[in-house]
Amino acid sequence: MELRIDRQALVPVVQQIVDGLAGWIRQDAVQPGTRLPSVRQLARQNLLSQSSVNEACERLVAQGLLASRHGSSFFVAPPLSPVHEPTDQNRQPDALADGGESAQRELKLGCGGLPESWRESDDLGYAIRQVTRTDMAGLFNYSTPLGLPALREQLSRRLKQFSIEADKNLILTTTGATHGLDLIVRTLLPPGSCVVVESPGYSNLFDLLKLHKIDMIELPRTPRGPDVDALQDLLAMHRPTALFVNSACHNPTGSSLAPAVAQRLLQLTKEHAVLVIEDDAYGDFQSSARTRLAALDPDVVYVGSFSKTLSSSLRVGFVVAGPSIIARLSEVKGITSMGGSRFCESVLACLLANGAYRKLVQRQRQRLGADMGVLLQVLEDADWEVFGKPAGGLFIWARPPLCDYAGVQRLAKRFGVQLSSRTAFSPSGADSDWLRINVAYARDPRAQAFFRATALDRPRVS
Ligand SMILES: Cc1ncc(COP(=O)(O)O)c(C=O)c1O
Repeated sequence: MELRIDRQALVPVVQQIVDGLAGWIRQDAVQPGTRLPSVRQLARQNLLSQSSVNEACERLVAQGLLASRHGSSFFVAPPLSPVHEPTDQNRQPDALADGGESAQRELKLGCGGLPESWRESDDLGYAIRQVTRTDMAGLFNYSTPLGLPALREQLSRRLKQFSIEADKNLILTTTGATHGLDLIVRTLLPPGSCVVVESPGYSNLFDLLKLHKIDMIELPRTPRGPDVDALQDLLAMHRPTALFVNSACHNPTGSSLAPAVAQRLLQLTKEHAVLVIEDDAYGDFQSSARTRLAALDPDVVYVGSFSKTLSSSLRVGFVVAGPSIIARLSEVKGITSMGGSRFCESVLACLLANGAYRKLVQRQRQRLGADMGVLLQVLEDADWEVFGKPAGGLFIWARPPLCDYAGVQRLAKRFGVQLSSRTAFSPSGADSDWLRINVAYARDPRAQAFFRATALDRPRVS
């Protein structure tokens, strides 16, 4: 079996073996119970070390794609394994229509994070072992009110790459960006006040604002950032308290803030004394040269996260703001959570200090960039309308040529593909024909077949 290992690639060899074997199992519809060539054979044929092949096979066992017998031979696992993806691309629509198990096995083309196969556990495992071995306080104690000083030190240094000057005492760690947004909303926004949110935008933010009884005013998102002309009118008309902006690799459109838009936005919000909250949860997927509002104005409240790149399970995020805001947020953080997880913060601090996180995001950017280029071409060939060509990140926002959502949905089901929600990205829950496409899922043969079929199924003008 040829695994096509690229030794120049930034993706580690073990991960490439995992991808190669997983691709073989999924794409070739290999029967459960099929025995893999021996570790020794695979290693010899592909000029690899046996330990790398063995490690890759063990990871696939952990993912449920392989089973191991006697610790040395590996077999394709039975299909009902919970994390095993379907291999049959010709399944009938009815077989998929019942939600439940079949929906679980569909390709989540519109989902908001990286697939499990992209996640890399070696460096994370190393950092966890380091903290376990060397940092007893990290295992057992509460963190400090602002968060672990060593982590805030690293964050302060890292933010300089985005030209954001943030002293470590102006950084508050949070349990993911979600916790940061919650602290901001409950502490800084009085119930009944109104705020401006982007449309389309991040659905969980809309739910959070509703939960806190904050009214939302919709601001259209353009491929260059929020529509600043519309913002000018909205600010004059509604006198909102705050504006939420997802500046880089925007969810769901993939677009990023243009410098001129950022300048104008800050000028307008200053004139109207509006608090700007910049959510940069996907920012690390993009190179540091891009525009950040917090780099241009120290009054911007900035929210970051490591969920999308490193691990959504660690639950580490952070907020950067001025001293009085940080003091208020920190007090509420203490009251509502007693602080973050010192263990997770120590693990992240270790990965930032030893350079592993920096290399991880470099690999992710390179891989996403390559996949983004391929996907944009596929969409163009299939005549999809693309909102704007994203400069990096996870998402493309696009509309199929067949503008009948039910038809597109049926087609997706036929190929085992689950599409993004039609209503979730609108603050008012309005229907949309646009779909969020996650670049990291789009190379899957099921997605490719679906895209091709949308072009073929289109009614032709004679
Ligand atoms: C724009 C945006 N902000 C914040 C979050 C939440 O991130 P975290 O997992 O760090 O809470 C998400 C998650 O999807 C997101 O899309």
